Amino acid sequence: MKIGYFQFSPERGELSRNIKTVRRRLAGTSCDIIVLPELFNTGYLFSSIDEAAALSEEIPKGATTQALSEMAASSDVAIVGGIAERDGDHLYNSSVLVRSDGEIFIYRKLHLFGFEKDVFSPGNREPEVFDVCGVKIGMMICFDWYFPETARILMLKGAQILCHPANLVLPYCQVAMPTRCLENRVFAITANRIGSESVGDRELTFTGRSMIIDPLGRVLAEAPVGESCFECVDIDPQVACDKRLTSRNNLLSDRRAELYGELTVG
Ligand code: ACM
Repeated sequence: MKIGYFQFSPERGELSRNIKTVRRRLAGTSCDIIVLPELFNTGYLFSSIDEAAALSEEIPKGATTQALSEMAASSDVAIVGGIAERDGDHLYNSSVLVRSDGEIFIYRKLHLFGFEKDVFSPGNREPEVFDVCGVKIGMMICFDWYFPETARILMLKGAQILCHPANLVLPYCQVAMPTRCLENRVFAITANRIGSESVGDRELTFTGRSMIIDPLGRVLAEAPVGESCFECVDIDPQVACDKRLTSRNNLLSDRRAELYGELTVG
């Protein structure tokens, strides 16, 4: 199976330009799964809830999801990308998985970072896993990495590959994700963005270094800090189904879930 990311610098508020950038890059690709950054269509900073609402869209009928569906069908690829979702009165920082057969799945970011709390509602659904080419895929978004429960629950539900759209501004995730993969024996694709954005007195610079990591925590691909980059690697997703650590240790059966009660107390 070939999995990849497209790291680039989305232009704030320029939905059709950002979609065009992705369409151009993905045309003719021969990857099975490609992950795009968080909020790849809108950019990251919003001047107000009204601006975010105007740039958000319903899934699946919104223009971005429809465009991703066309790209997925024409290039026979599954695409995961972050978009601003509108559902009734709520806005969510969401990720869509769009399969080449037209099926669409949603994940809503559980752990909102900083100013996102002023604009988005936190995700209101349990993380789920979805099938792509017979392989189980889980989605998480950017700051979710800081909460190891996110990757853990996805692994427990059978995820072999974590698809992780990101707009990283802290410098730690690229250090942490190999451990997330090792402790869960899963692959991960972190698709980060590059560039800077400013709105009013807020300015953010994104850290690039998108990564593909294997179940032993090895980095299979890593993008530069500040350049657009499309990368695809070959993996055997079955490796993520083997949870044996030593001849006497197994990641699943060695857990002591009966003693972890406080992990699920809010
Ligand atoms: C982030 O969660 N976008 C930092």
